[in-house]
Amino acid sequence: QWTAEEKATIASIWAKVDLENDGHDALGRLLLVYPWTQRYFGTFGNLSTASAVAGNAKVHAHGKKVLGAIDNAIHHLDNVKQTLAALSKQHADELYVDPENFKRLGDMLIIVLASKLGSEFTPKLQATFEKFIDVLVAALSHGYN
Ligand code: HEM
Repeated sequence: QWTAEEKATIASIWAKVDLENDGHDALGRLLLVYPWTQRYFGTFGNLSTASAVAGNAKVHAHGKKVLGAIDNAIHHLDNVKQTLAALSKQHADELYVDPENFKRLGDMLIIVLASKLGSEFTPKLQATFEKFIDVLVAALSHGYN
């Protein structure tokens, strides 16, 4: 499924990711751009403005957790579906997250990377990373069947 070049590209991009800050940024953008996603995080307090989200310690901690799961998937590129099977089931059967939102969060992560890496994030690198996001979203959506 992956060429050696694609694997190297994904690893090199991921090496530049800060799980904590970039996780906070990506999850925060999701909450602001798609405000209905705030409803899943009823215990997180005020999520209604950019400054509230930026200063929210729960968003910070949860963003790190989400990127930690993506980090785990990146370390198991040949087996992403299995690696995320339990997490997918949890989002489907316990959290009731609409799987459309996985793609939205993936898009937010691409935006965070593009703004962070600038011209280094070439269209070719982006295309490879988008392929990874597609695989990630498919794996997380698998448990909904
Ligand atoms: C919990 C990963 C997308 C809603 C979690 C946890 C992880 C995770 C690792 C913690 C599980 C645990 O502690 O047992 C991911 C990944 C995502 C993703 C990798 C996609 C790229 C989403 C989206 C939503 C969402 C899009 C909603 C819009 C939640 C909620 C929890 C959770 C509500 C429980 C939070 C809490 O109360 O602590 N997710 N998630 N997730 N996720 Fe996701």
